[in-house]
Amino acid sequence: MTATIIDGNAAAERQRLQIAAEIARWKEQRRCIPGLAVILVGNDPASEVYIGSKARQTVAVGMRSFEYRLPAETSQDELLTLISRLNADEEVDGILVQLPLPQHIDTDGVIRAVDPAKDVDGFHPENAGRLMRGLPSLVPCTPLGCMMLLQTVATDLRGLHAVVVGRSNIVGKPIAQLLLQADCTVTMTHSRSRDLPAVCRQADILIAAVGRPEMVRGDWIKPGAIVIDVGINRLPTAGAAKGRLVGDVAFEEARHIAGAITPVPGGVGPMTIACLLQNTLLTAGGRGK
Ligand code: GUN
Repeated sequence: MTATIIDGNAAAERQRLQIAAEIARWKEQRRCIPGLAVILVGNDPASEVYIGSKARQTVAVGMRSFEYRLPAETSQDELLTLISRLNADEEVDGILVQLPLPQHIDTDGVIRAVDPAKDVDGFHPENAGRLMRGLPSLVPCTPLGCMMLLQTVATDLRGLHAVVVGRSNIVGKPIAQLLLQADCTVTMTHSRSRDLPAVCRQADILIAAVGRPEMVRGDWIKPGAIVIDVGINRLPTAGAAKGRLVGDVAFEEARHIAGAITPVPGGVGPMTIACLLQNTLLTAGGRGK
């Protein structure tokens, strides 16, 4: 069997086109456009690349982008002051603080400072709690993107066994909630889970979100399963791998066993930013723009 390769670039492009069309209607009918503020503290190279792409794509769909690149020494108070200014700014509909933050900053305090109505990351405890209760909420972008990709290959997920590898607040926990809402039977696994390969082999849907290069091997996968690979890991630049990007799944092994699989790059990654733009549109609408 050779798996269907789930094309995240194509799905993200379709979503961006829909968002751009919606923004064009806004401009005509409401005479305003949604705005997204992105804050980066420090100069983590991967984060710089991400926020550059976010800003470019925000502008490309016709929204306003406000970028704040702050030095690594920025204090908690300075960051909270900026967030409180953006919370009050009518032109800003979404606020994203790029993670990870420098060690001296209390990440939870920063997440709590963002107005839940502008929390396009869906990280605020109010949004996380609402998601857990099954209430309408802002949903973290990567899990949202994973669900959209899943739906391109399986419209009805009811009763399927989904195994989530990784229990992060950004991906593992929220995606488990979304899979539950779709009536999947959900198993959460993590670094302390016993006999992980055997648990993964029971999965009709396998979500790999651990951040460990090619940890999930081909023989961990049930034949025909849908595999969503959230990992983006850069291999060492020295040696044969030459700094190649790989996921959490050994793709070349898995593609001969899975029914459908997302590649890295070109799978979940592009969907994350498309969903961020979608969430910004949602917050702008929710704020009565
Ligand atoms: N760092 C890695 N992924 C994310 C994300 O989805 N949002 C934010 N704010 N930071 C991240």
